[in-house]
Amino acid sequence: MSEQVAEFFGERAESYEDFIPRVVPYYHECNTLMLDLIPHAADAPLRLLDVGAGTGVLSELLLTRFPNATLMAIDLSEAMLASCAAKLGSMASRAELKQGEFPSVDIGTGYDVIVSSLTLHHLSHADKRAGYEKLHAALAPGGVMLIRDVVSASSPSLDQRYASLWRDKVQSYGYDDMSWFDDHLASDNPARVEDQTAWLRDIGFAEVACHWRHLNCALFGGVKPA
Ligand SMILES: C[S@@+](CC[C@H](N)C(=O)[O-])C[C@H]1O[C@@H](n2cnc3c(N)ncnc32)[C@H](O)[C@@H]1O
Repeated sequence: MSEQVAEFFGERAESYEDFIPRVVPYYHECNTLMLDLIPHAADAPLRLLDVGAGTGVLSELLLTRFPNATLMAIDLSEAMLASCAAKLGSMASRAELKQGEFPSVDIGTGYDVIVSSLTLHHLSHADKRAGYEKLHAALAPGGVMLIRDVVSASSPSLDQRYASLWRDKVQSYGYDDMSWFDDHLASDNPARVEDQTAWLRDIGFAEVACHWRHLNCALFGGVKPA
């Protein structure tokens, strides 16, 4: 599965930033909200981790918002990481880009902020939960984790209703290649946000919350107690 995911994104690296806001409603607004939810001072020398960094949209926003921060960007796809390096430009000197498959890849420790956007729904539920344990261990005390991801609804009929409304929204943005949507339905593995936030509490995160949601896309996370 991870080879298929790497191939899917590798083939789309060049067009990704045009494509993704048209298939993920409120993509840019949610990126801004993720940044705004980070409680640290803008001049803090933070250590940041972006899991499934892709072309580096969030990584670039983070390094811009926090000019004294350093960042680790992890992704399965070499092509996405090459785009990320180009996007970061001179800020790449504050970043380490690492190709690897989460959750097995070595991610290091001591992070003040961990983000992951539109990535973890590719994993099995067991790997998602193991991944959250790994991210908790990698956070410094007081560190914050923010996950924006595709999630499933609380019932199969609501899932269908959300999918239909999402499809209408995406078509209203002028996106008419529904093969992408069908690939998503066939190969992705979203989990309910209620289940994921319960896992986070069990693992030991505090201030666990779903901060934002639109149909089958949610922004949630927690804090590692100081
Ligand atoms: C939809 S893109 C999201 C990119 C970026 N985070 C954003 O929000 O624009 C998903 C990215 O996650 C990467 N990815 C998927 N599964 C992964 C895994 N298990 N480990 C590391 N990266 C993964 C893909 O290669 C792709 O670049």
